[in-house]
Amino acid sequence: MAYETILVETRGKVGLITLNRPKALNALNSQVLKELLAATRAFEADDGIGCLVVTGSEKAFAAGADIKEMQAKSYVEAYLEDFFAGWEDFTRCRKPMIAAVAGYALGGGCELAMMCDFIIAADNAKFGQPEITLGVMPGMGGSQRLTRFVGKAKAMDLVLTGRMMDAAEAERCGLVSRIVAPEVLVEEALKAAQKIADFSLPAAMMAKEAVNRAYETTLAEGLRFERRLFHSMFALEDQKEGMAAFAEKRKPNFVNR
Ligand code: CAA
Repeated sequence: MAYETILVETRGKVGLITLNRPKALNALNSQVLKELLAATRAFEADDGIGCLVVTGSEKAFAAGADIKEMQAKSYVEAYLEDFFAGWEDFTRCRKPMIAAVAGYALGGGCELAMMCDFIIAADNAKFGQPEITLGVMPGMGGSQRLTRFVGKAKAMDLVLTGRMMDAAEAERCGLVSRIVAPEVLVEEALKAAQKIADFSLPAAMMAKEAVNRAYETTLAEGLRFERRLFHSMFALEDQKEGMAAFAEKRKPNFVNR
């Protein structure tokens, strides 16, 4: 597929997707969603890829859903097409995904970053849910994911005032896993992604599934789910290899089986 709104590259075992609508600060329109889904599916199907990185530009990861595209929508149009439901497909990617965020990550941009498994931010990153300033509210998961990630007080503050928070505040409240300089953002995200991709893919995918389960279920069920997955790992060649390599003081050679 030829992409017009994103750039898609393979770096070693990492799939790199760069949002590329610079004139609109990477605003997320329906074409971006379609292309992101196609690129993600292609990387999912590629046995050579173990991790994905999604990034934008130094000025903007993404300044939100495309306001001009949705401005004239009627209620019934939004309802019948189940507007924004397509983003749930993006979250079905089973391989690990890192968001590398510089500049604005607002509205749908912040929500897209939160759909990834963790966020590495440049020190110039700005996160926010400014939908209230447009007479609406978050619609791509912001009211739910942000609240789970940063807690009610901070989520209410951001969603109700529409203010932006900088990278330091985002790291303090747990939205961001680490902060780096803007000029090394993509490099650092690729390094982290390559590290993940060098591990056993089934182990990484199961670990991702288990952590995500913590947001969907009770502690007792989550612990049971974790233990069952953990037990199943003894069927992996990679478990035998990883533990043998440790005992033999050598590097493991994982085969994703
Ligand atoms: N949708 C469509 N176009 C956008 C956009 C968006 N979300 N954000 C920026 N743009 C466009 C601007 O209209 C402008 O286009 P023109 O040159 O054709 O006028 C171009 O990108 C550059 O933007 P600015 O001139 O505004 O750049 P700036 O540096 O002065 O300001 C900004 C940057 C503070 C991010 C400002 O662009 C802004 O406030 N953008 C909107 C942020 C926002 O409200 N996001 C939420 C969208 S709604 C949403 O996401 C719903 C949801 O829950 C999913």
